[in-house]
Amino acid sequence: MEKNRRQFLKESAATVAPLLVPASAWGANDRVAYAMIGTGNRGGGLNKTFQTVGAQCIGLCDVYGPHLEAAKANSPAGVKTFLDYHELLAMPGLDAVVIATPDHQHQPMLYAALAANKDVYLEKPMSLNLAQSQDMVERVGKSDRIVQVGMQRRSMEFIRNARQVVLSGAIGKVSMVKAAWNWRFDWSELLSNKPLEGTLDWARFLGPAPKRELEPRRFRWWRAFWDYSGGNMTDQGTHLMDVVQWMTDSGVPKSAVAQGYIADERGGEVPDVFSAVFEYPEMIASWTLNYTTTYDYDWSIRFLGREATMVLDRRGYRIMKNGPASSTPWRWKGTEEVTAEEPDRTDAGAHAANFLDCVRSRKRPNCPVEVAAAAVTGPHMANLALREDRKVKLGSTGMAIS
Ligand SMILES: NC(=O)c1ccc[n+]([C@@H]2O[C@H](COP(=O)([O-])OP(=O)(O)OC[C@H]3O[C@@H](n4cnc5c(N)ncnc54)[C@H](O)[C@@H]3O)[C@@H](O)[C@H]2O)c1
Repeated sequence: MEKNRRQFLKESAATVAPLLVPASAWGANDRVAYAMIGTGNRGGGLNKTFQTVGAQCIGLCDVYGPHLEAAKANSPAGVKTFLDYHELLAMPGLDAVVIATPDHQHQPMLYAALAANKDVYLEKPMSLNLAQSQDMVERVGKSDRIVQVGMQRRSMEFIRNARQVVLSGAIGKVSMVKAAWNWRFDWSELLSNKPLEGTLDWARFLGPAPKRELEPRRFRWWRAFWDYSGGNMTDQGTHLMDVVQWMTDSGVPKSAVAQGYIADERGGEVPDVFSAVFEYPEMIASWTLNYTTTYDYDWSIRFLGREATMVLDRRGYRIMKNGPASSTPWRWKGTEEVTAEEPDRTDAGAHAANFLDCVRSRKRPNCPVEVAAAAVTGPHMANLALREDRKVKLGSTGMAIS
């Protein structure tokens, strides 16, 4: 069966359009054979998740020995390990790859995987800048591969349901959205330059980034450096701004402004306290992050509608009805009584399971690259605004993503 399916897919790829590959080419019990590129914090977790939802891990690649060893211990006996992802991509019998490396590696690894004819689960934020986003959307559009970006809120039931509530008009026209993320970080270990334990292939870690001598903190917390990421702005912003745009069907922002500073993340380059504001045709959205406090802990998004406010956070969604309009609004006694709610009951494997379903059915995944590109457009614009100290208008960025 396995051989027939692979043979069929190979022949199909050469002769018919991708959407015409029938789901029946995969039997119900066929397991998708995948390999991990990047087995650190996220990759290590995803490797376990993909096995839980029924896929078979056959390969692991990482440039840091301890991460590779830990992932190997959580994979089936006989799993193959690699230092060079190109060699992993040449493995026989490989259907898909999961890419969970720092952001500066996403584009080249995606392109190599597409060239090797693999389906791809690619971690967020999908790109390092706006130009990469555009090019990645075009490349994936020309390929017949399934590409799911790791923005798992797209597969969360309570968010999908919350969207229906907002689009039904139940909370009225949304004039403003406030997205926020508050954590309290101790950076002393993460940004320390003490020597790394275990082996690291630093040149391969840098990949397309500017060459430089090994600086352990750049490996430990690459998110703090512009060469490898868009900082905290795109790291968490891509998750939340996607929900903002998806729930309101707003498209990407017309403009962005941002202010921020390094409060505690010393030794790094990116702000750990910031506020960005995005302009949409009839809506303003703010995106604030503060990594010095546990107040209003974790992520939250508040949709301020004329009739009601909807709050989304890690617990689920809640709706609070508005009071009436009044010529003496200061007299209103104000309540925040919850009038409707739904808790988060999401299965942690839902987004990975959706990817596997799409590998079998060749259907569009819940988070295709166009969605991921639109989600990170605002945060990329806000980083430009912050770093160049100006208001950034979409037209001035040369982007055609909408
Ligand atoms: N969806 C989510 O909720 C979520 C959560 C956390 C992280 N992420 C994303 O996952 C990605 C990885 O983040 P992380 O926290 O796991 O970082 P990490 O530093 O813990 O892991 C990254 C791994 O990639 C490896 N790597 C770097 N260059 C490589 C190369 N050339 N070949 C093979 N391996 C290489 C590193 O050695 C490291 O083990 C990022 O894009 C991040 O934004 C997503």
